[in-house]
Formats: sequence, C-alpha cells, structure tokens
Amino acid sequence: MDSGVTFGRLAEEIAREAGEMLLAKRPARPEVLVTKSSPTDVVTALDQASEELIRARIKAARPDDAILGEEGGSTGGGRVRWIVDPIDGTVNFLYGVPEWAVSIAVEVDGEVIAGVVNVVPRGEIFTAVKGEGAWLAGERLRCNTGVPLDRALIATGFGYESRRRAVQAEVLAHVLPRVRDIRRGGSAASDLCSVAAGRVDGYYERGPQYWDYGAGGLIAAEAGARVGGLNGKPCNPGLTLCAAPGLFEELHDLLAPLDPERDG
Ligand code: IPD
Repeated sequence: MDSGVTFGRLAEEIAREAGEMLLAKRPARPEVLVTKSSPTDVVTALDQASEELIRARIKAARPDDAILGEEGGSTGGGRVRWIVDPIDGTVNFLYGVPEWAVSIAVEVDGEVIAGVVNVVPRGEIFTAVKGEGAWLAGERLRCNTGVPLDRALIATGFGYESRRRAVQAEVLAHVLPRVRDIRRGGSAASDLCSVAAGRVDGYYERGPQYWDYGAGGLIAAEAGARVGGLNGKPCNPGLTLCAAPGLFEELHDLLAPLDPERDG
C-alpha cells in the first residue's frame, strides 16, 4: 500500500491539473447546465469536465481504486477511495467570485489519509497528510487557538435545499450576536482551509457533503482544529463544526440546543 505522502502527491498533481483546465476553459459567463436540489444548487459543464478529468487521471494511475465524486457518484470498490469535488463553490464559479476550489481526499480503509484543496482563483493549494501536518506554499499551517466565542470570526455555509434554509436563517440569527462576525465564503472546502490558516477562527454548517469537507476536514485537523458533528456524531448528515479545542466546545454548546438537525 502506498503511503499518505505518495497519495497526497498524486492528489495534488491531479487537483493542480484540474484547476489549470478550469482556469483555461472558464468562459466569461459560464452557463448552468442543470439544477439539483434547488435553483441555488447548480452544475455547469465544467463541473462535469473537471470530474471527468480527475476520474481519468485517478484511473490511469490507480485503476483498482474506488471513487466518490459529486457529479458522478460512487464507482469501484476496494480499500482505497478517492473523494472528489470537481468544483466546490460552483455558485462562486458561475459568478466569477474568486472563491472556488478543486477538492480531493484519499481514504484508506475508511480513514482520510491525504487531502488537497486547490483554491484555483487564488493560486493556493492546501495539502495535508494524516500525521504529517497541513501545508500551504511550504508553510506549516496552525489554526488559531485560545480565541473565546465572543471574539471569534466564524465561517458558515448554507446547504442548498430550500426546506432547510429557514432553519439555517434562525440558527444564524442566534449565532451572529454572540460572535465577532460571520463569513459566508461559498466554498466549504475553502472555509475549512481558512480555519487551518487562521483566517477565520471556526466554521459550522449543516449537512455539507463528504466531498465538500473530506479534504478540508483533514487539512483543518492537521492544523490543530477539531472537526466533527454534534455530540460526537459524524459530520454528515448533521451539523459539521470545526475550530480549535475550546472554541469547538463553545460553538458546539451554542448550537446544540437549537436543534439544527431538524429538517425545517
Ligand atoms: C457547496 C459549497 C457551499 C456550501 C454548500 C455546498 P458545491 O458546494 O461548499 O459553501 O455551503 O453546502 O454544497 O455545491 O458548490 O460543490
């Protein structure tokens, strides 16, 4: 079995190539190809092209591995699985907001051991290998520590399903007066990397998908953050939280009584 470092290098090479293709081919005004759960939940032709490229490169290098991709679903079996978001932040991509990413995680026996988030418009490639730290441009990343909730800058995201949006607004109204401020960047993968880099202090969101947080979750964890759901549950389908220990618990205790896991 290859090491996390070897998987990480391959994931980085593929995420870099997908990013170059997306930058070269993104038209001035990309068009929505289809919508999924709501009019906000969009797919462009380049989401599909990016995933096709990523799948082809994985298959060429590692033909027996399984792949879970946002657009193509689950394929293959075996101990190694690649978790792929070909464009995380598709609405930003659509509008030209420079906050979208190619996210690739590698799981072995159910555990993510390598993760890459290429925030393409910023030319930033965040990487992590389990037990080896999180990195950006040769610098080791460390999340902010010792920040109390009322001084914390918190990133969040809003899942696209319309029936849940009213609940998300209620949760936000409760959180906003209790923290320094809120950021809604539009890419969960990039939000988690921002926690890792200390650009925000924490992150919460209800129900991001595995492809949204697989790589970014490892990057944040390797930078010292806790990543998880409410009451020790997994990140999905409930609430995903991410912050340094201490702030993580404060955020958890603020959000838990709101029952944000109800469907709304
Ligand atoms: C979305 C983004 C967004 C988050 C949504 C995700 P997509 O991913 O990460 O920030 O709030 O929950 O679905 O659809 O652009 O890949």
